[in-house]
Amino acid sequence: MRLYQAPASPFVRKVLILLKETGQEGDVTMVAASGNPLDPGTLPVAQNPLGKIPALERDEGPALYDSRVICRFLDDRAGGRLYPAAPRLWDTLTLEATGDGISDAAVLMRYESVVRPEASRSPEWLAAQWAKIARALDALDARWISHLSGPLDMGQIAVGCALGYLDFRFADRDWRADHPALAAWYAGYGERPSVKATVPA
Ligand code: BEZ
Repeated sequence: MRLYQAPASPFVRKVLILLKETGQEGDVTMVAASGNPLDPGTLPVAQNPLGKIPALERDEGPALYDSRVICRFLDDRAGGRLYPAAPRLWDTLTLEATGDGISDAAVLMRYESVVRPEASRSPEWLAAQWAKIARALDALDARWISHLSGPLDMGQIAVGCALGYLDFRFADRDWRADHPALAAWYAGYGERPSVKATVPA
């Protein structure tokens, strides 16, 4: 299998952590891909018509995208440890959607700040994206610490990748300041070898 990826992407990082946690690293060849909404560059448009990473080319069957589909496929291939059985599954999937939603909004902010021509940038639009992130962080801090502290699953990994991306691109926003429980959870989660080995730089 071939994974089209860039290590800075929080969505790619979900897949990289899953591969390490499930012992499948040796089964996937990494293919570097870069681009942005204004210039697809080397993004895998033939494998994913949306031109987004990660995309997973399989030896048999069509390419898979996006990160949720790829993670579900690779976890199933390894025995299904990171997506628990229902009813816990519904919480895991909701948590994964929350983490991915934070990453979506943060990546859009990044594009707005560095890709969109300066004269077209909108401070109001940036503030609206951050408001979405702040609400999600509030919800994680208030209601999700118990689940986050349970056995490792893809919900935790998605949230961890979102928080790592905030540290990477928006450290000045200091998300920890108003979310002490989430910050404490993240400090412990960050000790996992799979997490340490994939910190974006
Ligand atoms: C970034 O450099 O922030 C980035 C790279 C790839 C995908 C998303 C974000």
